[in-house]
Amino acid sequence: MDEILVETTNIKKVFSGVVAIEGIDFQLQKGEVHALMGENGAGKSTLSKIIAGIYQADGGTMRVSGREVRFANVREAVAHGVSIVTQEFSLIPDLSIAENIFLADDKYYKYHFLADKRAMAEQTRSLLALFGMEHTIDPYAKVAQLSVAQMQVIEILKAVSTKARTIILDEPTASLSVKEIEVLFDIVRKLKAQGVGFIIVSHKINEIYEISDRITVLRDGRLILKGVATAELAQDDLIRAMVGREVKDLYGAGALGESDTRNWEQAPVVFEARGITDQNNYVRDISFQVRRGEIAGFSGLVGAGRSELMRAIFNVDPRNAGQVLVDGQEIGGRSIRASVAAGLGFVPEDRKTEGLIQELSVLKNIGLAKLAARGKAVLDNKAAEADCLQMIQKMEIKTANIDLLVKSLSGGNQQKVLLAKWILLNPKVLIIDEPTRGVDIGAKSDIYAILRSLAAQGMAIILVSSEIPEVTGVCDTIYVMKEGRVTAVMPAAEATEEKIGYYSTIGDEKR
Ligand SMILES: Nc1ncnc2c1ncn2[C@@H]1O[C@H](COP(=O)(O)OP(=O)(O)OP(=O)(O)O)[C@@H](O)[C@H]1O
Ligand SMILES: [Mg+2]
Repeated sequence: MDEILVETTNIKKVFSGVVAIEGIDFQLQKGEVHALMGENGAGKSTLSKIIAGIYQADGGTMRVSGREVRFANVREAVAHGVSIVTQEFSLIPDLSIAENIFLADDKYYKYHFLADKRAMAEQTRSLLALFGMEHTIDPYAKVAQLSVAQMQVIEILKAVSTKARTIILDEPTASLSVKEIEVLFDIVRKLKAQGVGFIIVSHKINEIYEISDRITVLRDGRLILKGVATAELAQDDLIRAMVGREVKDLYGAGALGESDTRNWEQAPVVFEARGITDQNNYVRDISFQVRRGEIAGFSGLVGAGRSELMRAIFNVDPRNAGQVLVDGQEIGGRSIRASVAAGLGFVPEDRKTEGLIQELSVLKNIGLAKLAARGKAVLDNKAAEADCLQMIQKMEIKTANIDLLVKSLSGGNQQKVLLAKWILLNPKVLIIDEPTRGVDIGAKSDIYAILRSLAAQGMAIILVSSEIPEVTGVCDTIYVMKEGRVTAVMPAAEATEEKIGYYSTIGDEKR
């Protein structure tokens, strides 16, 4: 018989009177990769956190290796061999990588506070070697210096280091590059062969088919499919189970389709970047133009410098050279305020630290940007409320009410709030960095349709995305970047996955 690592029966969780999940039966077997799927807000993270001891269930029972348990906290779960990498990072920026990994591991602490730094660093180096990163990442470096992708790797290594028998990965690949995902999956396969069981949450369907053995689907907090063998589940059936309806036209071309009368090629240039060089001289001398109604896409691998370019353009970070022009007028000031005043908008990659204020309500998060942009001091509650409600409806943001703190929304819904906040400002040019990270398939198609309709109204959109189908499916013009340079520019009609892949990895010929 297969050994069952984790079993939940009739699990229920209620948040301030609202049922998040109910009646969830779930089983994880030894040496299997079990995918947990469903739309944003379906309850995947909630179930994961209950299994990992972060939340306590309000009903139902849980067994780990056959024994009934009730974890009061993460420590107890870890002691029973259950580890989690949550969707929200939990690293401490001011501590070193090694200290972060072994924070809770008493083995390295003499007299409780004196850490054996050498031993920790050595152990960290051998963990990093799993990812082939032992030479590029210094165990003594502060976490604050890492990129989002590197932080994700450290979180995963932290879980691996506890020698867990059950590892839960909540959207582990959302900010990893294709290559890093391959490495991660190799590690998963290796540990799986040793009997470790994985629960993986991801919105990337092809990934789930690649790595998982079984799939469980939640919808609105209920169990829809229970541990169906991946090999026996057709993709269409999976999508229908998650969404509860058919999703045909993912990239939203149908939203405009034949009525795509943007005619952007004849429209005037609204945005121009000239010779942009970022503060580290990594992104060098980049120039491009975007017309009214055009959607320009920036493709490339994580680390290609796309986010650095956009941050330099929007004055989030200082730049060493270059000008930014809107409607032919150079933006003189070097502040975010100057960028906004000139008609630029920017949806950053990192919603947690830069995009949203976690401790404020949905209403305040959506409303404050507009307030700041207009230089007003007091929030006009009525107007803000109307705006907010309209965006919630338009973007189908799942929140019990507009006064809920942003941090209590599911990951995908936080992403939608961030987008809503900037769309309401109605900028001439909207720069969006990875807008659908962690967003479910139904919401993705909503977001694409929204971007297209904004473009149809004349907004110029600059989209940074690591997902090639997203760039080819949504954009008109595609820029490919590699190591701080634009290596290719092509109309979407001429773009293929191979071609973009080539210019992101090998090609360095500017055409
Ligand atoms: N701490 C909390 N306080 C209040 N409500 C919460 C809290 N955590 C989750 N919820 C609610 O529980 C429901 C399930 O959320 P959960 O985060 O589990 O969704 P998810 O399936 O992980 O979604 P996503 O794909 O967007 O990450 C949502 O309606 C969410 O708003
Ligand atoms: Mg989640």
